[in-house]
Amino acid sequence: MSNQAELYHELLGQTKALITNESDIIANMANISALLFERLTEVNWVGFYRLIDDELVLGPFQGKVACIRIPVGKGVCGTCVSTGDVQRIADVHKFDGHIACDASSNAELVVPVKVAGKVVAILDIDSTAFGRFDEQDEQGIRSIVKVFEQNIAAQNDIKA
Ligand code: SME
Repeated sequence: MSNQAELYHELLGQTKALITNESDIIANMANISALLFERLTEVNWVGFYRLIDDELVLGPFQGKVACIRIPVGKGVCGTCVSTGDVQRIADVHKFDGHIACDASSNAELVVPVKVAGKVVAILDIDSTAFGRFDEQDEQGIRSIVKVFEQNIAAQNDIKA
């Protein structure tokens, strides 16, 4: 296994250990953000935005203070919601409509969190390094988000 594959394997195991048997979605978002912020290199912001009344609202995160509300379709995060797809951006300055919360961010990976096929939140990871996120990062983060989606879906009262 490559170092990166090993890292994501480890992070997946740690995510499972952190959120299994914990039903509080906010607490789980907080711990996933803290885990990724601590372990991923060249990352200056990691956090969640929750989709509330068709608007993204800032959730648990690690990093500098950030924009609180993002309309669906705006910025990298809002585009992730409107398309329902992962946004892996090598150079955010070339992304039309990018919202610069932290001027030192140069690359971004945004993964949708879906329950019953609908986006309920997004996980946003920012990096100071251009082209920081490759296919392996995308797959690694997708697997972590998948575990979180299963955790949310398992709750009777879904309030993601
Ligand atoms: N850059 C994001 C905004 C969120 S911050 O990076 C935390 C965007 O364009 O949607």
